[in-house]
Amino acid sequence: MITRVLKVSDSDPFTKEDLRAIGAAAEVICHGGLVGFRTETVYGLGGNALDATASARIYAAKGRPSDNPLIAHVCDMAMVEEITEEIPETGKKLAETFWPGPMTLIFKKNDRVPLETTGGLQTVAVRMPSDRQAAELIRMAGVPIAAPSANTSGRPSPTRAEHVYQDLNGKIEMILDGGQTGIGLESTIVDVTGEVPMLLRPGAITMEMLREAVGEVDIDPAITGPMNPAVHPKAPGMKYRHYAPKADLTLVEGETEKVIARICALAAEKMAAGKKVGIICTDETKHRFPLGDVVSIGKRDSEESVAHNLYAVLREFDDSGAEFIYSEGFPEDHLGQAIMNRLNKAAGYHIEKV
Ligand code: TXA
Ligand code: MG
Repeated sequence: MITRVLKVSDSDPFTKEDLRAIGAAAEVICHGGLVGFRTETVYGLGGNALDATASARIYAAKGRPSDNPLIAHVCDMAMVEEITEEIPETGKKLAETFWPGPMTLIFKKNDRVPLETTGGLQTVAVRMPSDRQAAELIRMAGVPIAAPSANTSGRPSPTRAEHVYQDLNGKIEMILDGGQTGIGLESTIVDVTGEVPMLLRPGAITMEMLREAVGEVDIDPAITGPMNPAVHPKAPGMKYRHYAPKADLTLVEGETEKVIARICALAAEKMAAGKKVGIICTDETKHRFPLGDVVSIGKRDSEESVAHNLYAVLREFDDSGAEFIYSEGFPEDHLGQAIMNRLNKAAGYHIEKV
């Protein structure tokens, strides 16, 4: 299959060419095809969420286990009502506060949503993206769009159209190249089917923001520590060792001077043994590492910049063939909770405290 790549700009209003490209992508989706498109978090691999065959094709293209449910992307509340059984009060409040935006809510599904889309579950994950390209695509398609992150299963999520192309060229009909994504980490997932809302995956809508909006919010224990085989994460996707870079990644955490010294020592040791070493640091510390392939992930005082660059940096190291990567750690509050959740998973919870 030839994968067509069409450019889309951010002009407001969209240019004629933009609308033609988004319209062509909507056509593909309405005919059961698959399209890679930008959202404010990461690129999505979209198909008609109401079409069981399209969902099956999404799993096949990603090489993803079919028990890992997809997120249905909508453009308005009417579309949410079309696919859900009920919208509980906390769900309403969270939707009003954070939609459109980087938050996914779990609701009870109705019969219009095939089990192929929900990985066999009676619940459906729903997100109303704020990205204008994504919103226009859903509006033109006129159906909810099922979209996991547009990467091959097990690779870092794509934050640029080129990442989608690397993973899915020849497997999907089209990619809308809209440039880089803003946030860079997948949406916050909150299950609102129970009495107390539960955070299933941290993201740019932080725990602090959720609690301010609705009061009590629980955390799925699977988020915070290494996966205990007895604990089943409520978001089935969180059980896989996602976001895994090809190299062996170690996080070094502690006081900055000690972290720098330890990373330098580890890098020197591996390089003396002839290994290819990558170092993930920050703008503030970059000049302190004399050895290895040193890449700054962003500014220590801007968690947003770190989130924005994280997956692209991991992909860069995959491409450069690094065998060992050492990374500085980050504080775990606010957006740092999502950053450290992804870094911990990428490292397989291989952490050194100094
Ligand atoms: O930001 C995002 O959410 C991106 C963009 C494209 O919107 N999408 C994304 O999809 O990250 P994906 O498929 O990579 O991750 C979806 C996560 C998985 O961990 C999955 O298990 C969980 O959502 N999930 C989906 N439906 C669920 C459900 N009914 N109950 C619990 N977890 C669910
Ligand atoms: Mg994913």
